[in-house]
Amino acid sequence: MLKIERIYGDEVLDSRGNPTVSVTAVLSSGAAGTAISPSGASTGKYEAYEKRDGDKERYGGKGVKNTLSAIKKEIEPKLKRLENITLRACDRYLLEIDGTENKQNLGANLTLAVSMALSRALANHYNMPLFKYLGGASALNLPVPMMNIINGGAHAGNNLDIQEFMIVPVGLGSYRERLRAGSEVYHSLKNILSLKGSATSVGDEGGFAPNLRSHEEAIELILEAVRKAGYSENDIKIALDAAASEWCKENSEKYVMPKTGREFTKDELIEYWVNLVNKYPVISIEDPFGEEDFESFKKLTGRVGNKIMIVGDDLFVTNKKRLQKGIKENAGNAILIKPNQIGTISETIETVILAKKNGFTPIISHRSGESEDAFIADLAVALNSPFIKAGAPARGERVAKYNRLLKISNMI
Ligand code: PGA
Ligand code: ZN
Repeated sequence: MLKIERIYGDEVLDSRGNPTVSVTAVLSSGAAGTAISPSGASTGKYEAYEKRDGDKERYGGKGVKNTLSAIKKEIEPKLKRLENITLRACDRYLLEIDGTENKQNLGANLTLAVSMALSRALANHYNMPLFKYLGGASALNLPVPMMNIINGGAHAGNNLDIQEFMIVPVGLGSYRERLRAGSEVYHSLKNILSLKGSATSVGDEGGFAPNLRSHEEAIELILEAVRKAGYSENDIKIALDAAASEWCKENSEKYVMPKTGREFTKDELIEYWVNLVNKYPVISIEDPFGEEDFESFKKLTGRVGNKIMIVGDDLFVTNKKRLQKGIKENAGNAILIKPNQIGTISETIETVILAKKNGFTPIISHRSGESEDAFIADLAVALNSPFIKAGAPARGERVAKYNRLLKISNMI
């Protein structure tokens, strides 16, 4: 009878040098798994709760030492009672132990690391690679990488208000070719920026973070980098993440870009996006409006949703209830999937199933604060997700995911 033998946690560092939760689960068979929770910067208001100690004497209040104490007090003794364990049963019990809508008691950073560690331990118990354990024999598709090569917004100290300018090599054949193209364009862009005398320092997700005249200039530089690397606009498309919840002011109907101070009414912002889509090979815009603004999402989806993806990140927060509202109101046609926004792998899978059933494209995603843990690479293949967002094709915590996908490509 398969049971949980032991669960323990550790406080480790993420890619920004902030503490985060690591959990190891050991099963009665001796199989074990370890996992690390990621952490966001442009965090949505409706995300599950990220629990930190708040003790200003340690890590500026961001420590997770006390958060981890719930493992020995509550999680381990209770989960150890389960017999013939499955991931689903463990996750369901975790929700019961927490007892709140948004993981307020245990913290989603803790529940997710437990859920991920158990997924790995179970995969090891059954002698399967993680993607096979999670996705079974139908886990066959390698996602197209959406690589963030210019960083702005809350992820960089530059003057760009759009948070992410991504390249999406949809026109190329295999995952390996797509990754190569991403790397070549990244380096081509670095050369162009150097020649212009622009900074080639990078933001939190590994993309360059130069000061530029406009968002249009950022897109044009990327298109130039694509051409100079020997690719065409058919090979490589552009995706944007505005993260526009950061552009909302309390009690105001207007959007204000925080860095440039540019102001837009909702309708003006819709026109701004339509214009960019008409002018450039943009195939996806994420969070073009704030997390409350289902109405503008709906309007933009009506205008351009037949040609591009309108992606809800802060809008849906990987939450089935919020996605249901989007489905009902035709607000968006794609959903960003971040496991720590909801707090367990089982709930993450349920949200992806709901999205697919209703024609919403799922995009499995990292966070701006990441680690060497490449769990989302396996998850993307397990769920046959058409896309993965894992940052630039540079920096260890980002390439961990892209390299894991290369490994998986040799196993399917
Ligand atoms: P975050 O950014 O991890 O800082 O929230 C990623 C995103 O907005 O997609
Ligand atoms: Zn986003």
